[in-house]
Amino acid sequence: MKKPLMAGNWKMNKLHTEAKDLVEQLWPQLADNEGVEVVVCPPFTALATVAGSIDAGGMRIGLGAQNLYFAESGAYTGEISPPMLAALDVKYVIIGHSERRTIFAESDELAARKVRAALDHGMTPILCCGESLEEREQGVTAKKVERQIRAGLEGMAAEEVAGMVVAYEPIWAIGTGKTATPEDAQEVCGHIRTLVAEMHGAEAAAGLRILYGGSVKPDNIRELMAMPDVEGGLVGGASLQVDDWVAICNFNL
Ligand code: 13P
Repeated sequence: MKKPLMAGNWKMNKLHTEAKDLVEQLWPQLADNEGVEVVVCPPFTALATVAGSIDAGGMRIGLGAQNLYFAESGAYTGEISPPMLAALDVKYVIIGHSERRTIFAESDELAARKVRAALDHGMTPILCCGESLEEREQGVTAKKVERQIRAGLEGMAAEEVAGMVVAYEPIWAIGTGKTATPEDAQEVCGHIRTLVAEMHGAEAAAGLRILYGGSVKPDNIRELMAMPDVEGGLVGGASLQVDDWVAICNFNL
């Protein structure tokens, strides 16, 4: 049985000292819940500190990064390599978040190279996809998501895909307070699973974990998680608030 996965994307928030405080406040309220896998994705500057807290506190919290560059090392000013993350016990890496794609012009091709690099270094990619409001209104949601998923997963082995995570995050729902209805989230997440089955077989599709992201809050998490193909959340704003994040992670209690 797959455990639901709740991943907090802290984006460009929290000094390393604040990130340490946050994880230490969270843990006592999450420790009794073994039914959910919790991951936090602090900014790069806080990864080492949070890794230290998780280790010292024996916390069952996974560490994730928000991005990486695919090269091992070299003249890539400002970038962070897969071995640098793996050395900090980073287990998950968010790849192709819509903010990377829209603000930093990251392409499908770059996302695919990053997925490859994360897998090659023993980390689990959380590959993001999702449509803009304009695309939804034009009725091209499925087409857009399909393109992103095809590009991101094309060259991967079926066993690798089976261990991966995909997050469906409609851009119009991110940070806006507008959540996709559970039915809309299900429709796209179900479509992703069907597509992955076509690409990599039924086993890979069944193993893949699919998350929904976009204004996930304590008051909508249960109805989203009731959908068969929504297996967790990728949570931005609410993962920065102790009470909200605890309520989301403990949705099953
Ligand atoms: P919000 O939860 O703030 O809408 O952000 C979602 C997101 O982008 C997570 O990656």
